[in-house]
Amino acid sequence: MCRALAFDVGNYHRVRVLIRFPVLSWRFTVALALATGGCRDAGPPAPPAHAVPKTPALFTASLAFADSAVPDGPLGASIRRGLALLEHTPDSLPEYTGGNLRCTSCHLDHGLRPDAAPLTGVHARFPKLMDRSAAVVPLEDRVNYCFTRSLAGRALPPRSREMVDIIAYLAFISRGVPVGAHVAGEGMTKMPALTGDSARGHELFTANCTRCHGVDGAGIAAVPAVWGAKSYSVGASMARVERAASFVRHNMPFDKPGSLTDQQAFDLAAYVNAHARPDSPGKELDWPAGGAPADVPYATRGHAPAIVTPVLPRKRADGGIVPPPMPAAGRSGE
Ligand code: HEC
Ligand code: HEC
Repeated sequence: MCRALAFDVGNYHRVRVLIRFPVLSWRFTVALALATGGCRDAGPPAPPAHAVPKTPALFTASLAFADSAVPDGPLGASIRRGLALLEHTPDSLPEYTGGNLRCTSCHLDHGLRPDAAPLTGVHARFPKLMDRSAAVVPLEDRVNYCFTRSLAGRALPPRSREMVDIIAYLAFISRGVPVGAHVAGEGMTKMPALTGDSARGHELFTANCTRCHGVDGAGIAAVPAVWGAKSYSVGASMARVERAASFVRHNMPFDKPGSLTDQQAFDLAAYVNAHARPDSPGKELDWPAGGAPADVPYATRGHAPAIVTPVLPRKRADGGIVPPPMPAAGRSGE
């Protein structure tokens, strides 16, 4: 009885105080709570607040998982199917892919390799604010950014069996990673500020890359294209020279990763990304609040690119845009 009264009185005054003195409102609420003191039957104590560290520790991702760790039954089947979709994306989902890249063409080792945009722990990092969209997006949208941009394909329906299986796999390789924690080698290590020379990059490509990716960059057998109609689109992160340099520096040549210098990686990235690749519809709407990184190879708000990547028509014109989530009521442009 006493507690209920205190609550009522507090709330009534709080509403008025909030309207008139928004900044001071908590003081008034505390004062009111004190004024209604003297109640002994204050009810059960409030649960302890969670101790949320301001900067979560860097989580060391385990590199591999034993097959026996995958649960039995329908959940295990979904996880395994999700992994199979990441490994055989163009074969499994020809309607949703544009070229010959699969998810694990870049997310190497089942998506577990540090410095190759590891997907380990990704389920604990979303929903997330993405500067490129200026919106908080769920993991399904992030997966679809890679379908539409990195694979130059189409967005999977978020509630399709295939999307749920992919999310099941991503959640499985996130087990044990605390929500909000980051993993070692997440994203791709930022590179020093260097400038690539595409003429030097051409020579390096001939010496180090054509035996697998071909002289025309279209890939050979199971090796994916690095430019041209079958490669990643201009709207992919990999189309930025610095991002591609980081990937190449740490992961290529595939059989000798780490053998190139930072400068060589920049030269190669400049050469690879100077070639035409599939367009990315709606790319001019990226970074709607401005602030695109300098190496984004297309114009966006307030960003005049130093180098413009030539674009090719998309294999599929429709489904190439992931619509941003609805803005919160009363707010716009978020
Ligand atoms: C051309 C290379 C490439 C391909 C192919 C690709 N991705 Fe990505 N993906 C990236 C890059 C680069 C990032 C961003 C890494 C960064 O800078 O944080 C990324 C990020 C992601 C993220 C968010 C990771 C995080 O830590 O926030 C998810 C999830 C993801 N990709 C899923 C997929 C899926 C699923 C596929 C297949 C449909 C796919 N990707 C195909 C390059 C690729
Ligand atoms: C021994 C063969 C081999 C060599 C040599 C090699 N790559 Fe790759 N590369 C691969 C394979 C295979 C993948 C995809 C990984 C997968 O599917 O598991 C790949 C992926 C890539 C990707 C990301 C996916 C895509 O197609 O865009 C880039 C970029 C890339 N390589 C650039 C290079 C560059 C630059 C060189 C030269 C320094 C190079 N590679 C040398 C085999 C090779």
